[in-house]
Amino acid sequence: MNQRDTLTSSTTWSDDMLWALSVTDNAVMLVDCAGHVTLANDATRALAERVHPGAGPEYLLTLLPKDVWTHACERGSWHGQITSATGLVLAIALHCEERGGTVRSFLTFDDLSARNGRERELQLRHDELQNTYRRLAGAQEQLLQSEKMASIGQLAAGVAHEINNPIGYVHSNLGTLQEYIGALFALVEAHEAALQSSDPQASREEVRAKRDRLDIDFIIGDLPKLLAESREGIERVTKIVHDLKDFSHAGRDEAMRPSDLHRGLESTLNIVWNDLKYKVRLEKHYGELPLVECHLSEINQVLMNLLINAGQAITDRGSIVINTGAENGEAWISIADSGCGIAPDALQRIFEPFYTTKPIGRGTGLGLAIAYSIIAKHNGRIEVTSQPGAGSAFRVVLPTVQPREAGAA
Ligand SMILES: Nc1ncnc2c1ncn2[C@@H]1O[C@H](COP(=O)(O)OP(=O)(O)OP(=O)(O)O)[C@@H](O)[C@H]1O
Ligand SMILES: [Mg+2]
Repeated sequence: MNQRDTLTSSTTWSDDMLWALSVTDNAVMLVDCAGHVTLANDATRALAERVHPGAGPEYLLTLLPKDVWTHACERGSWHGQITSATGLVLAIALHCEERGGTVRSFLTFDDLSARNGRERELQLRHDELQNTYRRLAGAQEQLLQSEKMASIGQLAAGVAHEINNPIGYVHSNLGTLQEYIGALFALVEAHEAALQSSDPQASREEVRAKRDRLDIDFIIGDLPKLLAESREGIERVTKIVHDLKDFSHAGRDEAMRPSDLHRGLESTLNIVWNDLKYKVRLEKHYGELPLVECHLSEINQVLMNLLINAGQAITDRGSIVINTGAENGEAWISIADSGCGIAPDALQRIFEPFYTTKPIGRGTGLGLAIAYSIIAKHNGRIEVTSQPGAGSAFRVVLPTVQPREAGAA
């Protein structure tokens, strides 16, 4: 029986209406005053088949409690839920209207069990997606951290050298200080001997001669310099260790904090300096920077990647120029090098993970991909301009204050 066969001859239906009823997934049915089904769409037939295999749409009417018809006639409608013998839960809406002495009824059926099933399925999919997302986020965290550690590992020789240098001269200064102290003790002893001597005049001469021999005047002049230099060496080591700690600090679970980007730049330069100092002339033009809300250790990681790339782009000797500034609620750091530059087609790809033009063992192609994701997480951007053969400039732009989510304090 097709849709048109179920219509009473007294009813005229537009083609549009019939088409709409045939395509909808909602089960709808019209019933005349004698209780005969005058219209049931395909969805109703399919539902009847599910409720009772082999049954027609009229079977659905048998599921309604008897008194609901009276209720609907009196009040205009009835809404309720029934459970079929096969366990399907149906939400039913029954509308009745009296017109010209006869009553007509309109029914809709909603298969809640199917919907619940679909909802359960959706929930399951949603949970799975969320799990996958969590696992991915965890993996990304790990990747970020291990890339940073790998970079520090690559720099380890340089950092060790930077530490070794001051330790070397502090060590040698300590040797000299030991000699100076020996001389000073000898002089003190000479003084004591002179004090106990019966011939003060002769002893005074002896002390003076000893003082000249031990070069005490030179020691007195040199001692403060040695101490100051040693102190400076120890401070330098402390600073590098502190910078390294700053750098390796994960801190991703913490909230972003207003941070001093210049301090981040200086720490990072300290760590990469040994790799750069032999071939790079460094120019710094720091502007006024407000505190910037960020994870500073992550921003350091970005700056380190940019500085290492800049250094690697310079084969012989060249320059790196760092500029900083702030305007319109944004702070920026630009790192420009006079290196090999990037060809236009390569420029499209440099942020792709694993894109590298460096030999195996030198580059993994992750530096800029990770820099990009860190800056994106900070709601900032990285801009690049480059001229093959002349150099490249990378500009990191960050909002000074992170946008708050709607509704957040
Ligand atoms: N300052 C630059 N000058 C010239 N080319 C650059 C510069 N920065 C990046 N590139 C190009 O972009 C590519 C990708 O850089 P990225 O930092 O992502 O990886 P990598 O430096 O090759 O390896 P990794 O950083 O993982 O050690 C580089 O291989 C290089 O071709
Ligand atoms: Mg790199």
